[in-house]
Amino acid sequence: MLSLNNVTMRYGARLLFEDVTCSFLEGRRYAITGPNGAGKTTLMKILEGDIEPTKGSVSRPKKLGILRQDQFAFDEFRVIDTVIMGNSPLWKALQERDVLYAKPHEQLTNKDGMRLGELEGIVATPLMRMPRSCSTAWASNRRCTNAR
Ligand SMILES: Nc1ncnc2c1ncn2[C@@H]1O[C@H](COP(=O)(O)OP(=O)(O)O)[C@@H](O)[C@H]1O
Ligand SMILES: [Mg+2]
Repeated sequence: MLSLNNVTMRYGARLLFEDVTCSFLEGRRYAITGPNGAGKTTLMKILEGDIEPTKGSVSRPKKLGILRQDQFAFDEFRVIDTVIMGNSPLWKALQERDVLYAKPHEQLTNKDGMRLGELEGIVATPLMRMPRSCSTAWASNRRCTNAR
């Protein structure tokens, strides 16, 4: 669970929010709305730990994926790959696995084989937690990409 405990934020004389206590529950979706300058971006930065609030504290879950406010940063990637990049060990394992599988079969060494076993282990766990339709679509699309 992600929660704010008595969080106050001010920049000089400008008070953005005061004594905010609220919780964001796992599996729910939330939207932060407000006029320009209300403090939405500042609140997101406080939630992710990028900046410290003037007062109060934030508790974060052990794993927290963040997609930064930059609409061009992921233009070249598919949405699902962008989401997976939020889990950096998983994304790195997938990249490394693709490189090994792209090697001509006869060039794969024993060490490569062992490493592929480890990588499949890293990859399998989070993919099993995805909704089935999602992991299936993702896996088949990647195979198409690799075959090209
Ligand atoms: N680093 C900063 N120093 C001083 N004032 C800031 C800083 N960052 C944001 N502000 C001010 O805090 C207010 C809220 O900004 P921001 O969180 O970007 O609002 P929003 O995302 O809702 O448009 C604005 O008045 C902005 O000028
Ligand atoms: Mg903003």
